[in-house]
Amino acid sequence: MADVADCRFVPIPKISDERGSLSFLQPGPVLQFDIRRVYYLYDVPPGGERGAHGHRALRQLMIAVSGSLEVECDDGRHRKMFRLDSPDRGLYVCPMIWRRLSNFRTGTVCMVLASDVYDEKDYFRNYGDFLSEALKA
Ligand code: TYD
Repeated sequence: MADVADCRFVPIPKISDERGSLSFLQPGPVLQFDIRRVYYLYDVPPGGERGAHGHRALRQLMIAVSGSLEVECDDGRHRKMFRLDSPDRGLYVCPMIWRRLSNFRTGTVCMVLASDVYDEKDYFRNYGDFLSEALKA
């Protein structure tokens, strides 16, 4: 059973010098899954929302590479709100979490690292269907 407590911020290494900063991600303690896909959200209009779905098995790390946004994670029992506003911190989202992305600042780019390729069959697009599965057992 999914637990929203497993959704958490993870620090991303940041190397800064007079030339600026560099952050990187590779398999290890920060990123505990192999990346099979990267996508990013941008040009979200004021007041726009994304997400509003759940995934059966997909694991993700969300990073506000630029700008800021809020992510609400919901395991069917509890909800937790996260504000993503730094490229050196990612939000790990475990499987079976309904997520809603909102409050995008203008110009925000949210990069998502995913544990698998795109597969519509992995999605719950309907909250009722998600809840029936999430609250089983
Ligand atoms: P969707 O997952 O609903 O986006 P969001 O997470 O912002 O709500 O995807 C929007 C559309 O893009 C939908 O038609 C599926 C398609 N899509 C892909 O083709 N590949 C991908 O990797 C993703 C994430 C979405």
